[in-house]
Amino acid sequence: MANVAYGVQNDITIRLPKLHDAQREIVGEGLHTAPRYRIVLCGRRFGKTTLALSELPKQALRNNGRSYAYLAPTYKYLTPVWDQLCRTLAPVVVRKLENQHRLVLINGSTIECWSLDNEDAARGRGYAGVIIDEPALVKRLEDAWIAIRPTLSKDRGWILFTGTPSGRGFFYELYLRGLSEPNWRSYHYPTSANPYITPEEIEEARLMMPERLFRQEYLAEWIDDAGGVFRGVQKISVLHPRPHSSAPDHRYIAGVDLARKEDFTVVSVFDADTREQVYLERFNQLSWNVQVGRLARIAADYQLETIAYDATGVGDAVGELISNQLLSTRVLPVLFSANTKGEMLENLAVAIERGELKLLDDVQQRTELQAYQMDKLPSGRYRYSAPSGFYDDCVSALALAWHVMRPSSFHDFVILEW
Ligand SMILES: Nc1ncnc2c1ncn2[C@@H]1O[C@H](COP(=O)(O)OP(=O)(O)OP(=O)(O)O)[C@@H](O)[C@H]1O
Ligand SMILES: [Mg+2]
Repeated sequence: MANVAYGVQNDITIRLPKLHDAQREIVGEGLHTAPRYRIVLCGRRFGKTTLALSELPKQALRNNGRSYAYLAPTYKYLTPVWDQLCRTLAPVVVRKLENQHRLVLINGSTIECWSLDNEDAARGRGYAGVIIDEPALVKRLEDAWIAIRPTLSKDRGWILFTGTPSGRGFFYELYLRGLSEPNWRSYHYPTSANPYITPEEIEEARLMMPERLFRQEYLAEWIDDAGGVFRGVQKISVLHPRPHSSAPDHRYIAGVDLARKEDFTVVSVFDADTREQVYLERFNQLSWNVQVGRLARIAADYQLETIAYDATGVGDAVGELISNQLLSTRVLPVLFSANTKGEMLENLAVAIERGELKLLDDVQQRTELQAYQMDKLPSGRYRYSAPSGFYDDCVSALALAWHVMRPSSFHDFVILEW
């Protein structure tokens, strides 16, 4: 990382990252000059946090006796920044208040960091400059803004919002304000504006993500908050069921979502050589014996090489039952955690978007896929679910089947083999 030396006194040198061109454009003549309110919409890895780590120390050291703040959505975002500020500024810190995340510097200036899960923290403070990192992830951003705005009054302080978009919440309103109001300015940069991120890294992300997520996360475009996950479903849902005998030398696999309370068991069978769905069965018989019995019949019909089933919340006894009945089939229990499930669904979404698999023309399956939704959580992760009133068993079975079929699938996460 290129550094610039920032001299405080003859014998003290503070090293700060040298801003890249887009970061410099944001700072302009300096954050204390107009516009006072800067809203920066940028892709992941653009250098938002680095900008804060460079500008806050610079401002605090240039302007004696002033206070500055770094505000993050949650504590998790704050800790690395606080640690880095402590390290960078160590030679000029005269007091460090660890539990308040406040540094008092040699020239009387202070820098503090706090998380916006408690907007009351702003009460009674006054700042010459504030950076809010990842505003789209702040739970109640409008309330936070109402609390923070007065802290800037006394010193006519500036504020800089730097974030990747997510939904059209209050951050979007601020962004619009920055496009039209005097003294406000909005900026927009994709991740590629950061010269320290290689085009290969961005291309890799593009290949791994559903297109709309890539547009949001790397191109910094506004896409809607809760939105459909799967695009292009209709186009690939064109097949009719076909028996094993139609291509007896092909390999067949299945994804299985077992019914738990009131939902359905779905068995989704694929020709792994052509990546075509050949059979789909959906039934709501709840006894494990019935479910496993049907599964065994389908395994025999298609001479299934592998089945993957969602083993979350299914006891060992059921796993054993399946393994005992499907003696010539490889059985993979897959544990759906929030992470692994999200990853599997994203992989499936990418495959559907690109037409890498073909599905049966089945109304239930199509409806489930088209209704399936994702929304971004305050943690920055996505939650995937069916809207209330919709089932998602076909989607889960399909995601499991694709997980088995897609290349390099078994390296991604833990699979328990019985
Ligand atoms: N001016 C700079 N000089 C050198 N490296 C930089 C600069 N700006 C950003 N980087 C590098 O680019 C990468 C991303 O930077 P940073 O973490 O600040 O981005 P971010 O937008 O906060 O990312 P995220 O979306 O993950 O929070 C880091 O490796 C960082 O060191
Ligand atoms: Mg960051």
